Amino acid sequence: GKGAAMVTAVAYRLAEQTQEIAKILSKFRMTTEQLLEVKNRMRAEMQKGLSKSTQDVAVVKMLPSYVRSTPDGTENGDFLALDLGGTNFRVLLVKIRSGKKSVEMHNKIYAIPLEVMQGTGEELFDHIVHCISDFLDYMGMKTACLPLGFTFSFPCRQTGLDAGILLTWTKGFKATGCESEDIVGLLRDSIKRNQEFELDVVAIVNDTVGTMMTCAYEESTCEIGLIAGTGSNACYMEEMRNVEMVDGDHGRMCINMEWGAFGDNGCLDDFRTDYDHAVDDLSLNVGKQRYEKMISGMYLGEIVRNILIDMTKRGFLFRGQISETLKTRGIFETKFLSQIESDRLALLQVRTILQHLGLDSTCDDSIIVKEVCGAVSRRGAQLCGAGVAAVVDKIRENRGLDHLNITVGVDGTLYKLHPHFSRIMKQTVKDLAPRCCVTFLLSEDGSGKGAALITAVACRLREEAKS
Ligand code: GLC
Repeated sequence: GKGAAMVTAVAYRLAEQTQEIAKILSKFRMTTEQLLEVKNRMRAEMQKGLSKSTQDVAVVKMLPSYVRSTPDGTENGDFLALDLGGTNFRVLLVKIRSGKKSVEMHNKIYAIPLEVMQGTGEELFDHIVHCISDFLDYMGMKTACLPLGFTFSFPCRQTGLDAGILLTWTKGFKATGCESEDIVGLLRDSIKRNQEFELDVVAIVNDTVGTMMTCAYEESTCEIGLIAGTGSNACYMEEMRNVEMVDGDHGRMCINMEWGAFGDNGCLDDFRTDYDHAVDDLSLNVGKQRYEKMISGMYLGEIVRNILIDMTKRGFLFRGQISETLKTRGIFETKFLSQIESDRLALLQVRTILQHLGLDSTCDDSIIVKEVCGAVSRRGAQLCGAGVAAVVDKIRENRGLDHLNITVGVDGTLYKLHPHFSRIMKQTVKDLAPRCCVTFLLSEDGSGKGAALITAVACRLREEAKS
């Protein structure tokens, strides 16, 4: 009768809807062949960045860090470190003791208000100097004039350990008057302007490099640094003969790849979805950091949000109602994604999280949201793994080896907090680089400590040069 016809109609619509949802999610599935293709393209872009003749047009910049060796345990002294560019801004005092190979750290986290991140460069650096001043007061060390290592997690063209020109802001930063400027110079100027204390700025360090150095202090096979956090990037020890931008053919130098920009020439466009385009269009740096925007914590939640908006518009979710919350940029932070995807969480708890975010969900909604998060983070982890596979195979070939054992030092909120990201990423590396045995070592507090270690090595060499 009529009732049965209605039931059939509803069932038909539901089946159709399920299919449509599956179709959306399938855009995020990547085959092993596709991932191998990503790996190969990354390899090609790395080569472009390393070669003098192509490095101008290269999107993966392969920036020399002027870090030539990993620590040897003889580093010693008290150092100050700054860590700017991750989830938090921190000031650290790092006490390194040789012989015991021990590191003691004190640190304080400071907020950087949005209006400072996106104000003028002078405001940004004055804010940083005020935080250092507060920290020195707090530690009772205002008069010490300590050597400082500055972890500055943005692409810098370095001409030495203590000079780095900011090529472009990435992630959430957009302060004026900094791009094309020497960041160490801007920091020194601000310290002078404020006349509160003196510091000896010794090194500017990318967070990937700091992370690698921290792990290398404990594990000498660590020659790669990886960040999967707010942003994503990697560094590794490259043969000097391949680093055409720096004179000399002897030994190795750590290269900050700036792999987040991979794809900025369009070479990943066949894998990017409409949702990736939407995230890019709404970002502070349109068209830039395309790989990073498919991988890292600052953007995964945004991809999810854009999918949810589309699904809601099409009536598959939230009773077809797009709430103000769903229109708000940045609501799905890494910690929420991680919670939603946690296997220990019952669906009811997923609903509670969504409720907290201001999203009224049904049980069916929460299932779909969880699936969307899973599809997006899985693709992110796989793409990241494809990048790592490219790096380890490059190192293996550099050394003419059939088989390579190597350790990657890793840091970043996504890697640390997400319930599946690290596992999927590791599995992808295994699949795509079967001739490398890759161990991942979590670097607790890596970037700050690493900057201090690099500063310590530089100070040691300076002392040795004097005597
Ligand atoms: C962005 C920055 C890069 C940094 C990474 C991780 O990609 O450009 O320098 O290493 O984020 O923080």
